[in-house]
Amino acid sequence: MDTATGAPTGTPPGTPTETPAASPAQEERQKEPLRFPAGFVWGAATAAFQIEGAAELRGPSIWDTFCRTPGKVHGGDTGDVAVDHHRLWRDDVALMDRLGLGAYRFSVSWPRVLAGGIGFYDALVDELLAHGIQPCLTLYHWDLPQELEDAGGWPERETAHAFAAYAETVAGALGDRVQLWTTLNEPWCSAFLGYASGVHAPGRTSPADSLRAAHHLNLAHGLAAAALPSSARVGIALNPSAVRPLTGSAEDLDAQRRIDALANRIFTGPLLHGAYPEDLKADTARLTDWSFVRPGDEALIHQPLGFLGVNYYTPAVVSAAPDGGGPRSDGHGATAYSPWPGAQDVAFHQPPGELTDMNWSIDPTGLYDLLMRFAREVPGLPLMVTENGAAYAPDLHDPQRIRYLEEHLTAVHRAVTDGAPVEAYYLWSLLDNFEWSYGYSKRFGIVHVDYATQARTPRASAHWYARLARTGTL
Ligand code: FCB
Repeated sequence: MDTATGAPTGTPPGTPTETPAASPAQEERQKEPLRFPAGFVWGAATAAFQIEGAAELRGPSIWDTFCRTPGKVHGGDTGDVAVDHHRLWRDDVALMDRLGLGAYRFSVSWPRVLAGGIGFYDALVDELLAHGIQPCLTLYHWDLPQELEDAGGWPERETAHAFAAYAETVAGALGDRVQLWTTLNEPWCSAFLGYASGVHAPGRTSPADSLRAAHHLNLAHGLAAAALPSSARVGIALNPSAVRPLTGSAEDLDAQRRIDALANRIFTGPLLHGAYPEDLKADTARLTDWSFVRPGDEALIHQPLGFLGVNYYTPAVVSAAPDGGGPRSDGHGATAYSPWPGAQDVAFHQPPGELTDMNWSIDPTGLYDLLMRFAREVPGLPLMVTENGAAYAPDLHDPQRIRYLEEHLTAVHRAVTDGAPVEAYYLWSLLDNFEWSYGYSKRFGIVHVDYATQARTPRASAHWYARLARTGTL
């Protein structure tokens, strides 16, 4: 155990292999190479709380508080040290350069900016640019300053205005060099895991408040997008759900419709079309009259988008459950409280397919379906895969991860071939890191981190990805 992070330590078994000649999926395809378009961007993603550490140089966020709430985070792990990126950032950028990455998606810590720490990101951006790596900056990856949660958090409208002011500060410092901005990362998780099921910070369990939170997150996006410089390409990273009905029955199709509204259209409605879906409002009428949506809000959320970011890991399978569903899996950890407000009579089922170390089933067609859906829904809107990847054992030899990546990139390639304007792929994640309520027990990195020494060692998947980034050919 590392005393600072509480994370397991030790050199992992297995040694990195040379870049494998061909992974199993490639062999199945009989080695027919898939060429991505020239200019396709190969990146990797991280988030501030998950990697930075240096908690003493900023105020607390809701995740600091949550980590210190007994029983909320595996092993009582914290983000105090994480993978010490706040100290090792130069080495990490050099590592990205060695892997040949064209872009790096990172997030800025709002509490660090409030504490006057924006200089860290200023230097990071310069270093990335000096290495020819394009910065893709996320303003909010879940680390709400605790003082704003104390004032009511995302269910309060004022939080959206505070976010816009913060966005302006960051844009003032970095807007001359950063072109790619994502306002929010996965607002579904912030709203519904944070305020309905309570498995994420701040751990509240109010279905009505979670809907208010979703709206104020949308509003925060709109206000921030309007505040960013006109030179910025502004996007948002959603985690849209590839939600499928268990059967073709009318009841199961209706369950699919309802979860699609709560997972997807609650965001894409106002973002892409300037209005919340009527069926969503009807489905949740028992919980709220939606009067927190003020005249003009939906138009404000409907800002011009430079791109839509899609984070994808696993699909969802739902059915009607008139008896209330009983014990069920919701795909986001067993919870006593549902993250789906007003949908008690929908049951979630384990989708078919092999499982990763998160017990998430592997199904790349979900990614294909989502990319094609958005390509059809808003023709011409550039798309980026802003996260995709898999957790496996600590080993440096990680053929399952390579296979996962290869299968998902094959799906991305198919979407591109079928006309989806996908520009970039950001692998989650560059480094092993703090995986939210799972603490350090789940490893998503293509680079292994020894939590005792903070040594970084590229896994076989990192060598594989470097080759892909170099050749653009899968
Ligand atoms: C996403 C999060 C990211 C990481 C991956 C595994 O939901 O955006 O921070 O935890 O899941």
